[in-house]
Amino acid sequence: MKGLILCGGRGTRLRPFTYAGAKHFLPVANKPVVYYIIEALKRAGIEDIYVVVGEREKEFRLKLGDGDKWCVSIEYIRQHSPLGLAHAVMSAEGRLRGETFVTVLGDNLIMHSIRDLVEHHIATGAQSTILLSPVEDPRRFGMATLKGRRITGLVEKPERPAGNNAIVGMYVLSSIIFDAIKKIKPSARGELELTDAIMEMIREGYLVGYKVTGEWWSDVGRPEDLLAANQRILKGIKGITEGSIISNSIVGEKVMVEKGALVKNSVIEDFVVIGEKAVVKGAHIGPYTSIGDGSSVTDTNIKNSIIMKNCVLEGMHRGLDMSIIGEGSIITESMGKETTSMWIGRDSIIKGQ
Ligand code: TTP
Repeated sequence: MKGLILCGGRGTRLRPFTYAGAKHFLPVANKPVVYYIIEALKRAGIEDIYVVVGEREKEFRLKLGDGDKWCVSIEYIRQHSPLGLAHAVMSAEGRLRGETFVTVLGDNLIMHSIRDLVEHHIATGAQSTILLSPVEDPRRFGMATLKGRRITGLVEKPERPAGNNAIVGMYVLSSIIFDAIKKIKPSARGELELTDAIMEMIREGYLVGYKVTGEWWSDVGRPEDLLAANQRILKGIKGITEGSIISNSIVGEKVMVEKGALVKNSVIEDFVVIGEKAVVKGAHIGPYTSIGDGSSVTDTNIKNSIIMKNCVLEGMHRGLDMSIIGEGSIITESMGKETTSMWIGRDSIIKGQ
């Protein structure tokens, strides 16, 4: 079976971070979101991977290459305009016609095993299988209605939900989807919707099955989702020290200090990752924080935050909370009297008095 990762789109909700690059490379626990998906496909034995890309094609080619790093083959398919998920799938017809393939939204972190979904798909003999997850607020999601082993309906953000099974961004699709996409029209928001194409399959009598997951998943489409995903992944990290911890530093058990990193005179609480060659001095790093490779954090308090690569933070005693600091940014000295929360894009400079 082959894999298709959808990484076109504009990523407007993640501005300013997506002005500088695709959201799929934003780090969760210091690892780009799309790496988690490639690793999950590889774990399921899927080694032929197609990535649908938009205007960030160059960045993808540069950062993912031909997939060697993961011992998989990666090929790129250009979607000329972000005209919807079904349009993105359609752009892969030339490569995937005649195949059954696993499709994953490139900005989704999904803990459910892909192998399990594929085995379920094969066992049920369905033409397509969708991963579902129970949610508390059905009005925010694409929702499925079920009868026995079939999906009977898919509705985007229903006013009056008929159940609580939301569509998670992972599907096993057969080639019939391409014919269905050709029959649908753009939705009210002007996009070719994958849910409409799957509904077309259902109307034509094909068996569209489902699997309900109990595992955690999230789409990381907004900054607050990125912070929540960072927390969730950091909660599961193991303590590893590959760098140096010196001068009376106190470091929790669930902290990763990566190669070449230096922690000096600092307190590092649990659920923190300190990237390669990062330097942390006289700092208090609270839980759920990732410090990117090559960053330097001095005399600063931080918790619940993502500091990307090569940042410099200095003298922020009052502290950062729920913040995302873009790659290469420099912040010196404290601002205001209270703990600050800020989302600032790449290469920003903020200087205190
Ligand atoms: P979305 O988050 O729905 O769209 P987006 O990435 O354009 O973001 P925003 O709404 O903030 O502007 O997309 C979900 C995933 O699907 C994401 O990985 C991008 C991908 N996608 C495509 O590949 N092609 C498309 O035409 C669209 C709309 C999304």
